[in-house]
Amino acid sequence: MQRELMQKFEEMYGPGGEIREYFAPGRVNLIGEHTDYNGGHVFPCALTIGTYGLARKREDNKLRFYSVNFSKLGIIESSLDDLIPSDKAGWTNYPKGVMWTFGKRGYELTSGMDYLIYGNIPNGSGLSSSASLEVLTGLMLKDLFGFDQLTKQDIALIGQYSENNFNGMNCGIMDQFASAMGKKDCAIFLDTSTLNYEYAPVKLPDAKIVITNSKVKHSLVGSAYNDRRNECEAALKDLQTVVDIKTLGDLTEEEFEMHKAAIKDPVCCKRAKHAVYENQRAVKAVKALKENRIDEFGRLMNASHVSLRDDYEVSCSEIDILVELAWETEGVIGSRITGGGFGGCTVSIVKNDGVDNFISTIGKQYKDKVGHEAEFYVVEIDDGARILTK
Ligand code: GLA
Repeated sequence: MQRELMQKFEEMYGPGGEIREYFAPGRVNLIGEHTDYNGGHVFPCALTIGTYGLARKREDNKLRFYSVNFSKLGIIESSLDDLIPSDKAGWTNYPKGVMWTFGKRGYELTSGMDYLIYGNIPNGSGLSSSASLEVLTGLMLKDLFGFDQLTKQDIALIGQYSENNFNGMNCGIMDQFASAMGKKDCAIFLDTSTLNYEYAPVKLPDAKIVITNSKVKHSLVGSAYNDRRNECEAALKDLQTVVDIKTLGDLTEEEFEMHKAAIKDPVCCKRAKHAVYENQRAVKAVKALKENRIDEFGRLMNASHVSLRDDYEVSCSEIDILVELAWETEGVIGSRITGGGFGGCTVSIVKNDGVDNFISTIGKQYKDKVGHEAEFYVVEIDDGARILTK
């Protein structure tokens, strides 16, 4: 793979100079969904799939971008003087947003660069291809320009800032954090209110984590996401008139029930209920995992799905079909929607001897019901973003 990408780089941009290579993974979240902008906990892990990047500094201010995935677009040219979001810039808005954020934070990019990327995260799958591209770009800039003081956590925060302020998607920190900070065979138990985190080993001797891609992505994802965030903020404001809290993540279920009447809008109340209960589920699930109570972990995953479907309303019929089929399938310990929602993937824990049957039975029934095939990936958890050049 790296050899082919190097050849492609030289073919597109010409040989010579020092060409550096990087990788940043996608992620899957096991539990704790839509909690990261509510001061709650998340539990994601980095995948083996992600985005590869090759870069070389230039003598001038030019930026040249090329994606092997969008080869028809050819080389997209821009410059360091043109770090402004535009529809025309397409996928390059992600790396450009990261470059813009570097500049804003005083990390001056002293020259342009040639940049080639290739990603193997399925498009629109909700496995964080954009976050991986942001983290990849952050790592690339740190390395090329020698910003040694930047930590991987800083790179995650820069990625999130650029996505919020350059790309207009008000995401939380989970995806960039997982891509930057992932650790092989571990999920990251992250408290998004403090950024304290802990690596929890996820070596399940008797089971596998299986991602199922519904291969649907409904439009308006970004705006529906931002709406949810606004609804949670409105609920928080109402709650703050009766209880001293900074985020929804500060509340237990009991405290929420005690104070929820303060939330004026019933829709906002449902959204807040999800945020509070889901945060508590994430905390309980990690405890259960550490104590080897994997059935309890599965039960909490199922409850997470019901809450995302009914209270947070970010599921869709195709995803509900996949999850319900999983719940009915022998050997399934838990199954839920994962990521932002409105399509994308489910994540399931399946007993080792049930995996083949899971894939064949659900694959067939999904095709019969929905009309197209789902895709299945048995997860291997890997390290976070890294420099590949030796
Ligand atoms: C998207 C966002 C994350 C997070 C999830 C939902 O992936 O980028 O910050 O909010 O949705 O848990």
